[in-house]
Amino acid sequence: MATIPEHERVRLEAVAGPNAPIEDLIARRLGGEPLQYIEGTAPFGPLDVAVDERVLIPRPETEGLFELATRMVRKPEVIVDLCTGSGALALALKSRFPSAAVFATDISPDAIDVATDNRYRTGLQVYLAEGDLFDPLPTAILGSVDLIVANPPYVAEVDFTNLPADVQREPKVALVAGPTGLEVIQRIGASAAAWLRPGGVVICEIGERQGVSATSSFLDLPAIVRQDLSGRDRYVVAVKP
Ligand SMILES: C[S@@+](CC[C@H](N)C(=O)[O-])C[C@H]1O[C@@H](n2cnc3c(N)ncnc32)[C@H](O)[C@@H]1O
Repeated sequence: MATIPEHERVRLEAVAGPNAPIEDLIARRLGGEPLQYIEGTAPFGPLDVAVDERVLIPRPETEGLFELATRMVRKPEVIVDLCTGSGALALALKSRFPSAAVFATDISPDAIDVATDNRYRTGLQVYLAEGDLFDPLPTAILGSVDLIVANPPYVAEVDFTNLPADVQREPKVALVAGPTGLEVIQRIGASAAAWLRPGGVVICEIGERQGVSATSSFLDLPAIVRQDLSGRDRYVVAVKP
């Protein structure tokens, strides 16, 4: 008989109740539903954010991006989070830098709805806007952003079906960028310099084999690759001269 690991059972027991018997939760997990969707929340840095099938589940690598960002900037006044999904990065950065104005965008209306729920849940005031990358940002902040962060989709279309089954349950728009996987990173790289102030920082999460192509996408910026805790190339970082 199929079963789930003991540590997952313990987590499901914590969310089981009269309306959600443990047997039903285990059946959902055995059906391939990610554990965090069943739990309804995921930890991210100092926060717990609500997650469901409308958004990507925040990953430890992205917590690494958050930690890197907090080490690279001191007192940011203006922060932008592109591709915000659940709002995890934007909200964690607002929590860390309460005096900063934090702007977050996402092309998915569903994601903006979840991020709006998380803004309410955390009480952290960030500006959320639906739209393509930089498009919904107020032009008043052009050239004055201290920190841009992004965890964009970076999987190639052809690789989608090779992803683990539970990852394929997450929104495809959150995972797949296009035929090469680099499409969204390249568009972020083409525009980031214009939005940053001199000395401003951009940090973009990438796939572990995308370092060379991704760094060359950051036009007018001296971009380098940084590694995650397990030594894999996972971030492009640049400081505007
Ligand atoms: C990998 S998920 C990251 C979500 C969240 N930042 C995190 O790290 O958990 C990528 C997000 O980018 C959004 N997205 C995809 N294409 C976009 C675009 N052109 N402009 C803005 N957001 C986009 C998706 O809807 C999805 O929420």
